[in-house]
Amino acid sequence: MQPWFVYRKCSNRSCDMCIYFLVLFASVCLQVQIKREKALDITSEHLIKAMADQMANEGWRELGYVYLSIDDCWTKKQRDPNGRLEPDPDRFPSGIKALADYVHSRGLKLGIYSDMGNYTCGGYPGTTLDTIKTDAETFSSWEVDMLKFDGCYSNDTEKAIGYPKMSSALNATGRQILYSCSWPAYEGGLPPKVNYTQLGNICNMWRNYGDIQDSWASVLDIIKWYAVNQDVLQPTAGPGHWNDPDMLITGDFGLSYEQSKAQLAIWAILAAPLIMSNDLRTISQEAKDLLQNRLLIYINQDSLGIQGRQIMKVDCLGVWKRELVNGQYAIAVINMGDDGLPRPFTTSLGLLNVTQCPVGYKLYDVFDRNYLGLFNSETTFNLKINPSGVVMLFIQPASVVNHMKRHGSYFG
Ligand SMILES: *[C@@H]1O[C@H](CO)[C@@H](O)[C@H](O)[C@H]1NC(C)=O
Ligand SMILES: *[C@@H]1O[C@H](CO)[C@@H](O)[C@H](O)[C@H]1NC(C)=O
Ligand SMILES: *[C@@H]1O[C@H](CO)[C@@H](O)[C@H](O)[C@H]1NC(C)=O
Ligand SMILES: *[C@@H]1O[C@H](CO)[C@@H](O)[C@H](O)[C@H]1NC(C)=O
Ligand SMILES: *[C@@H]1O[C@H](CO)[C@@H](O)[C@H](O)[C@H]1NC(C)=O
Repeated sequence: MQPWFVYRKCSNRSCDMCIYFLVLFASVCLQVQIKREKALDITSEHLIKAMADQMANEGWRELGYVYLSIDDCWTKKQRDPNGRLEPDPDRFPSGIKALADYVHSRGLKLGIYSDMGNYTCGGYPGTTLDTIKTDAETFSSWEVDMLKFDGCYSNDTEKAIGYPKMSSALNATGRQILYSCSWPAYEGGLPPKVNYTQLGNICNMWRNYGDIQDSWASVLDIIKWYAVNQDVLQPTAGPGHWNDPDMLITGDFGLSYEQSKAQLAIWAILAAPLIMSNDLRTISQEAKDLLQNRLLIYINQDSLGIQGRQIMKVDCLGVWKRELVNGQYAIAVINMGDDGLPRPFTTSLGLLNVTQCPVGYKLYDVFDRNYLGLFNSETTFNLKINPSGVVMLFIQPASVVNHMKRHGSYFG
């Protein structure tokens, strides 16, 4: 299976407040970012090991959350006398190789961060054009499995040279290293400045839009940008090369329960890397249940890897659809209204253009974990979508038998 990927950036540029790890999937990515002012939570090997333990012991790894990523601020303020990046000796006293060994011993993969430019966004040593090869070799020698390559403190010309050059340098190490590029986010995310054909050739995933913040307004802004630009963005995604709308903030502080579902639903429709940004030691049961929803993950990780689209916008309801393997579909109806009103949506499979299976379809509610019954294309049905919430349906041809069995219980 082709790798899917993820990453994260130090958005407030104040490193003492950011801790990042990344948790990925068999073929997708999940990442964790933690923002805390407590000294203990500053990015460190202690923190990364604690998250690795959580991922291995609390059911995350088995669901596919396998990449654990360190974000910005892990190095010393200077390169070593040989021009190599070195971890901060106070926070990573055992070194990155030992940390990679630990993470691997838990059945996980380790991601790391660097920046195409003079400095990282947090002001640590960057990877300039003349240090790309050295840094790629350093990461490979530490047995790192993923690189997020940020883009602070470089100009467009340097990025245009540096991102492909890092891709080649990683490849030349002979080690499989998932390559996450921040490049398009620095260029506005759209053609003609961004060449998605080229990106698909050199990167495994890329951020194309601004950093997510821990708020519903930010989630909605990203969703709307993806909807408006879907004709450009949707065809660029596929196995091994994904759009990354940025991390999940479910399990952090800013989203309600309904809003968390809405983010997860749209990210699953978008075939987005699922990158967590929470503290797995203190996550609520509610958030954990959402992030461990098997049917949601099944949809997100669908083997065709086709990114979904917004197919209708009715007032403040957005209707999103993703085509899945075996003639299956996922639909998400999101209520973007902020007036506190739940909204009804009456539709049918025919109106959603799900008509190919003559014997009808089985419908499941992804978040309520309910089987809704067998539907043909004419049957109308009513959904009620909570304010800033979502209803997500999984639609399976009635002719698909034993499917649930093959994939284990979707509702487990
Ligand atoms: C990076 O550093 C070089 C050399 O000091 C300088 O010429 C260049 O302007 C810097 N670039 C950026 C984007 O800061
Ligand atoms: C970008 O930076 C390089 C030096 O690192 C410089 O030679 C070049 O002129 C700069 N390009 C632009 C467009 O500023
Ligand atoms: C390097 O690139 C070649 C050609 O695309 C590919 O076959 C090979 O698997 C790559 N190696 C690694 C380690 O990614
Ligand atoms: C985009 O990149 C592809 C692959 O590198 C290249 O063939 C194509 O000419 C580029 N398109 C533009 C408009 O530069
Ligand atoms: C359904 O398909 C028809 C014909 O291809 C198209 O005109 C219509 O926009 C589609 N509707 C939706 C909701 O996708």
